[in-house]
Amino acid sequence: MKVLIVGSGGREHAIVAAVAKSPKADKIYCAPGNAGIAELAECVPIAAMEFDKLVEFAKKESIDLTIIGMDDPLVGGVVDAFEAEGLRVFGPRKNAAILEGSKAFSKDLMKKYDIPTAAYENFDSAEAAFAYLETAEFPIVLKADGLALGKGVLICNTLEEAKDGVKSIMLDKQFGSAGNRLVIEEFMTGREVSVLSFVDGKTIKTMTSAQDHKRALDGDKGLNTGGMGTFSPSPFYTKEVEEFCEKYIYQKTVDAMAAEGRPFTGIIFFGLMLTEKGPRVLEYNARFGDPEAQVVLPRMKNDIIEVMEACIDGKLDTIDLQFEDNAAVCVVLASKGYPVKYDKGLPIRGLENFKNKEGYYVFHAGTAIKDGQIVTNGGRVLGVTAKGKDLKEARANAYEATKWIDFDNKYCRSDIGKAIDEA
Ligand code: AMP
Ligand code: GLY
Repeated sequence: MKVLIVGSGGREHAIVAAVAKSPKADKIYCAPGNAGIAELAECVPIAAMEFDKLVEFAKKESIDLTIIGMDDPLVGGVVDAFEAEGLRVFGPRKNAAILEGSKAFSKDLMKKYDIPTAAYENFDSAEAAFAYLETAEFPIVLKADGLALGKGVLICNTLEEAKDGVKSIMLDKQFGSAGNRLVIEEFMTGREVSVLSFVDGKTIKTMTSAQDHKRALDGDKGLNTGGMGTFSPSPFYTKEVEEFCEKYIYQKTVDAMAAEGRPFTGIIFFGLMLTEKGPRVLEYNARFGDPEAQVVLPRMKNDIIEVMEACIDGKLDTIDLQFEDNAAVCVVLASKGYPVKYDKGLPIRGLENFKNKEGYYVFHAGTAIKDGQIVTNGGRVLGVTAKGKDLKEARANAYEATKWIDFDNKYCRSDIGKAIDEA
């Protein structure tokens, strides 16, 4: 088979690596890919939002399966563009990707179908939002409705902060049209867990759990980022929590989307918070998490192509999804200054140390090739993943492996997986 993966981050590198393990994959392309992906796939210089060019390429090369990694093209309807030409593609159609594309939609869906989540109100105007805040309790959470690179959520401790937040999202359009609508939500506390799942429109199979670290600095301080590291499985995702989610969240979400005439095929990522009152949905994503994919996929035993094809064909019920009985930790190596301001183009040394090292992976996020040398090309540069027999061993292995890599301004959090010690 010829397979095309669309995207260029650590998540897509992890997907490409999983596809490369499949005996079904004869030839792998990635658009646009990155320097690490280029070792496993032929990278083609087409951007993820260039739907016409992607479709044209898939037709010309007779691609048998296209896998969309990123949220923007999914929400923009890339799957519909492929399907219109009779091409096989893995991911939700535009009318289902709205589960991630509009937080107001997803909140209304959860309310209508009684799926546990934080109490909320949606707002179309800043005036109405300001008025609501006057009688609200703090802290409170503001969420831009649309996609905002994971940065559209503000936790506000005072009325003043919240008013400033409404102003910057709805009036100053800090996140562009993503701020045309606003969700104001009850503040919850608890541990967060990411559960990714395969969905075929009606059947859902969840993958092993993971936990992300969204803040830039140790101790969950600093700005929100795309994710600074992950571990899998989460020791806080107990059998009891899983049973609750299976009964009240997972299948109910899939059934709700089908009942709304928006059957979901692809990946649903459940961002959960384990509150005192039980698990609650924080958010849905319509794709693999990044860096969650970098700890979940290396532990998956199944042939990813088989699972994805079963989703497309509505036969996911025939798949027995299996994960290794071990653990994995991913530490993101970033450029100092991320997520605000950082240098690019700095040479990366030591990547060869990962060659033929069983259980160790270096996934490229922001890298490029300059004059034959691999250089930094983004805020999050690499994801260093290691497995271990348990979480503690995996964490020690991952931190050891971060020392194998060197580049100027290299930065990583030193406390990825600290929560493991509290389990
Ligand atoms: P989201 O993009 O909705 O997952 O939000 C990003 C992050 O904001 C989450 O991972 C949480 O850490 C935090 N967050 C979102 N919603 C809430 C909430 N209702 N209460 C507390 N924290 C929240
Ligand atoms: N790691 C969170 C996300 O992919 O949205």
